[in-house]
Amino acid sequence: MEKINAIITGVGGYVPDYVLNNEELSRMVDTNDEWIMTRIGIKERRILNEEGLGTSYLARKAAKQLLQKTGVSPLDVDCVIVATTTPDYHFPSTASIVIGKLGMENAFAYDLQAACSGFLFAMDTASALITSGRYKRIMVIGADKMSSMVDYTDRATCPIFGDGAAAVFVEPTTEDLGWKDSYLRTDGKGLPFLCMKAGGSVCPPSYFSLDNRMHYLHQEGRTVFKFAVTNMSDTCALIAERNGLNKDNIAWVIPHQANVRIIEAVANRLELPMDKMMMNIQRYGNTSAATLPLALWDYEKQLKKGDNLILTAFGAGFTWGAAYMKWGYDSSK
Ligand code: COA
Repeated sequence: MEKINAIITGVGGYVPDYVLNNEELSRMVDTNDEWIMTRIGIKERRILNEEGLGTSYLARKAAKQLLQKTGVSPLDVDCVIVATTTPDYHFPSTASIVIGKLGMENAFAYDLQAACSGFLFAMDTASALITSGRYKRIMVIGADKMSSMVDYTDRATCPIFGDGAAAVFVEPTTEDLGWKDSYLRTDGKGLPFLCMKAGGSVCPPSYFSLDNRMHYLHQEGRTVFKFAVTNMSDTCALIAERNGLNKDNIAWVIPHQANVRIIEAVANRLELPMDKMMMNIQRYGNTSAATLPLALWDYEKQLKKGDNLILTAFGAGFTWGAAYMKWGYDSSK
């Protein structure tokens, strides 16, 4: 029997209309465009500011575009995985809301929580489901409404994050393409450095947790920065080495969009010029699980069948990793 590989067959994306730029942010907290551009590299981010709309709204807009672009019927999707840290509710899953709204009646669906590494982890899972031979079409969505947990009085975190979502289909092929290799890691020592302190089962919502602003994203930026640089660079180097990838045969690196300086460090380690690093952080900021698929969405037209891509991410947990994917279609057609 021929070997089954898992390829991406289409990309859809969505970012909300509202643009929060550095100028507006400078009126909200003590910051300025120059600091944000030199230390992080973000000019503006998109914010979902309509009341009553959550992550499933972003996810289903992206999913709908994917269905329209590919012409696939919602009934022909076997499984939907939504990578998110900002689900609509503790339960049920955001994925169940997405399939309900879009009529994907034959799919089972669940959320995957690996913070900013969520899309990478979900792709690895989807690839394994496809290569098992049991499923034919999986929709993987990275979606986060980060503005729902950002403290807009904290100048050290509020410039970083934005809202967005993107979705891909993962399907089988017998061609030598698709998800080839991955190296994913999780280390629980990251908890104190990047977390939301209350709202979960350890510290359910209370007047105390509200009074102490414990429902916002808490981050110790310098520590997170160091771990992100080291771990993303190391795993990229490992994936490159064991797959014979180098500056001459890597078409693109798709890095998590957290900080331009982190992306530069990864490029340096792989000895790649910055124009091989997919980047949209300037326009969207860090959309957590959505950064990788949003980059694919933005760059789709430039991708060619057989292109060697390295994807890499880092997030709360800590979670991190890198993967090697051979792109499956000529996207400009
Ligand atoms: N505007 C102006 N000054 C600011 C500021 C802002 N928005 N935020 C912080 N500062 C100040 C600090 O108060 C500090 O001032 P001090 O020296 O007088 O105390 C100074 O800038 C340096 O702060 P520091 O936290 O050391 O800055 P930094 O260079 O580490 O940059 C981050 C901060 C958050 C941008 C950076 O640490 C980072 O990107 N970390 C990783 C974040 C990340 O990737 N998170 C997601 C992972 S999934």
